[in-house]
Amino acid sequence: MHKENLTEIIFDDENNNKVNPFDLFEEWYELAEKNENKYANALSFATVDKEGMPDNRILLMNGRDRRGFVVYMNLNSAKGEQLRNNPKVAAVFYWKSINRQIRIRGYVELVSDKEADEYFATRPRGSQIGAHASDQSKILKSRAQLLEKNKEIAKKYENKPVPRPKYWSGFRIIPLEMEFWKDGEFRLHDRILFKRTNINAPFTTIRLNP
Ligand SMILES: Cc1cc2nc3c(=O)[nH]c(=O)nc-3n(C[C@H](O)[C@H](O)[C@H](O)COP(=O)(O)O)c2cc1C
Repeated sequence: MHKENLTEIIFDDENNNKVNPFDLFEEWYELAEKNENKYANALSFATVDKEGMPDNRILLMNGRDRRGFVVYMNLNSAKGEQLRNNPKVAAVFYWKSINRQIRIRGYVELVSDKEADEYFATRPRGSQIGAHASDQSKILKSRAQLLEKNKEIAKKYENKPVPRPKYWSGFRIIPLEMEFWKDGEFRLHDRILFKRTNINAPFTTIRLNP
């Protein structure tokens, strides 16, 4: 069980501009991985549809660097279509075990074929086959139909490597805003927002009321 001093803040106001949000993410993520039972890499991933109606679901982050956070999916899924129409997202990591939240707002960019191929190759064979079998978000007549298709795909690639389907790839969430929220005593939580106007601009740091 994670124990921490609830009066300890993320950083002093004097050190505001010395902290980079990607470094802070790494620090928090390391702590989350140590404390979460499973899926420290789970995030909510909100998009907006053509009618302006928000949508949201959990995805797994399966790549990250100082550009952003990578999630993989079927590009023809509901979220894939929504992103084609409006490549902007709001995402949230919430780690119950340490009671911290990181909110991200930004836009997405498709990862390169090379990056997607490399990640796909690391997936268990069953998941690679599943990526071919599932027409994600489309209506399925029955469970049996999916299992049958899965069997057919498995047969097709028997004793062969399973290639990445063309419609299966990743998006990198490029943050324009990252907000770090840390539980505080008496609800005096600590909130630090990093914000930039474009990806080449430096982040400015803002402290928010809890
Ligand atoms: C813990 C967890 C992890 C998930 N990871 C992914 C993922 O990495 N990629 C994905 O496409 N769907 C993932 N899903 C399923 C999505 O939540 C969602 O059901 C699916 O992507 C279809 O969403 P859509 O119809 O809005 O496109 C995950 C669900 C859970 C609960």
